[in-house]
Amino acid sequence: MPDITFPSHKIKLLLGVCGGIAAYKCADLVRRLIERDFDVRVVMTAAATEFITPMTLQAVSGHPVHMDQFDAEMEAGMGHIELARWADIILVAPATANSLAKFVHGEADNLLTTILLASNAPLILAPAMNQQMWKNPTTEQNLASLAKLGHTILGPGVGEQACGDVGAGRMLEPLDIAQRVQAIAFAKQSLAGKTVVITAGPTVEAIDPVRYISNHSSGKMGYAIAKAAQRAGAHVELVSGPVHLGDPSNVVVTRVTSAAEMLQTVKDKVANADVFIGCAAVADYSPVEVFCHKIKKNDEQMSLKLQRNTDILAWVAAQPNRPYVVGFAAESQNLREFATKKLHKKKLNMICANDISSDCLGFNSENNALLVLFDDGSEKILNVAAKEVLAQNIIDEIALAVGENDSSINRE
Ligand code: PMT
Repeated sequence: MPDITFPSHKIKLLLGVCGGIAAYKCADLVRRLIERDFDVRVVMTAAATEFITPMTLQAVSGHPVHMDQFDAEMEAGMGHIELARWADIILVAPATANSLAKFVHGEADNLLTTILLASNAPLILAPAMNQQMWKNPTTEQNLASLAKLGHTILGPGVGEQACGDVGAGRMLEPLDIAQRVQAIAFAKQSLAGKTVVITAGPTVEAIDPVRYISNHSSGKMGYAIAKAAQRAGAHVELVSGPVHLGDPSNVVVTRVTSAAEMLQTVKDKVANADVFIGCAAVADYSPVEVFCHKIKKNDEQMSLKLQRNTDILAWVAAQPNRPYVVGFAAESQNLREFATKKLHKKKLNMICANDISSDCLGFNSENNALLVLFDDGSEKILNVAAKEVLAQNIIDEIALAVGENDSSINRE
């Protein structure tokens, strides 16, 4: 996937609609995109026309809808190569399991797949399918391959499905998709020339060969920040605990397991950093002793002796030539009070506090909400939104601060 740098004209977005029940939401999606100043053209697969009519999408987009690869009239007007060249960005929503499989293998058996193959525009995919299809290892592999190629995957959401099943596989809501695409497309190159080191995901602390201590961090928040920083032009070093996310494109990813490994990697990376963002849910304690063999359950009770792990964030902030240091605070109560304490105690420049008492925010969720506190006493509330959207907001705040505070950052 190429670097995302967009021209100054209205961003030209090609919406590919595949054949899933969520296609009926595409009329709303087109409107939401147009509201956000995108120039939208629509390409539909044959299956998509079973769920929503081309006429509807033509009416809302204000342009003819493209469907047939071999339509002589269309090709004479705007053919598949012109469409591929026209698009500044391509969004496929809903992206069905079938189409995702075709994209992975570079098939060009319909207009949409042919355009994707012929275009070098950034590709954003919003999958939608039955939860069992989503869980299928083939789909998982396909998604991993697409993420590895640098394409952006939005969602899917979790909930009740049209078929009656409950689980992951719902297409994200149109407003949600439009906001995320907007965050991606309108990102400014505000961190060009800067190096940003980010920690993300959980750490895993071994007890014995089969057991460990960890937490529910999925890495989504940290990875979204890494992508936003990369889009803003930064050189991004992502130090990631074990997560099920593909490497973001143009980001240097170092995978670690334990808090000790994360600390060592951060030490290696942070010397020349301009910004450090600690988004990882680092285990506060790890077992004093890691057993070589599986512990036998001989007694009714057992105790595990734990030792405190070094606080990576505080360590970075204590360095003489420290970068701009941003921490997170995951709190289930007294959000402002506890986050303020962490801001001062760890000598941070900025802290993003999230309330983790709700199941649908914070850990392992698509959305989050943040209270952002700064070292100058100011604050900002970032209301519930997709993590990609919040990540963009965070990067905008950091870019503002790093720009303004450049001279006050003690750098040699
Ligand atoms: O990964 P997701 O599923 O998307 O969820 C995102 C998130 C909830 C994990 C994220 O938004 C978040 O809040 N991350 C920090 C979680 C955390 O460990 O918070 P804390 O309050 O315990 O730690 C405070 C800060 O110190 C954090 O920046 C943490 O990275 C850092 N820390 C903590 C302990 C330690 N040994 N080293 C650290 O650097």
